[in-house]
Amino acid sequence: MKTYQRFAITLIMMISANVAFAGNDGKALFDKLCLSCHVISGKPMIAPPVFAVVNHVKSAHPARSDFVNYIVQWVANPQVENALMPGAVRKFGVMPKLPYDAAQVRLIAEYLYDGETARPAWYIEHYEAEHGHKPKH
Ligand code: HEC
Repeated sequence: MKTYQRFAITLIMMISANVAFAGNDGKALFDKLCLSCHVISGKPMIAPPVFAVVNHVKSAHPARSDFVNYIVQWVANPQVENALMPGAVRKFGVMPKLPYDAAQVRLIAEYLYDGETARPAWYIEHYEAEHGHKPKH
């Protein structure tokens, strides 16, 4: 087993233990349930950084309700053939299915849509190199 896989499994165990204790604030829930893999800053090691996720999902689903519904169904059942981020799937593998509460994921998705997901300059360059244009959102 590769080191990052062992790391991911440890994280999943930690996250599962956290689910019961997270409240109903989208940011706090995100920090507890998603941030360990989807970093805000620093080098992404096991999953794309949060601003990359938000950017890809907003490009495909610009309306708030569609964006939120996409994330809720994705987290409930990540399927490689539906992934909006095939490059991330190749790099990190598909996101594992995690035992999250759908109502909590909805709060997280609303927070991600409304929140400021600042993008560092390196990401804009990386996106442009990969997609041929600057990120739209
Ligand atoms: C154990 C690590 C891990 C955790 C925890 C995690 N993710 Fe992910 N996620 C990934 C990886 C790896 C990818 C990139 C590959 C892919 O798209 O499946 C990803 C991709 C995504 C995508 C892009 C989907 C697409 O269409 O490609 C969304 C949206 C997402 N995650 C949301 C979340 C949310 C919301 C949470 C918290 C509730 C979360 N993730 C927690 C690992 C994780």
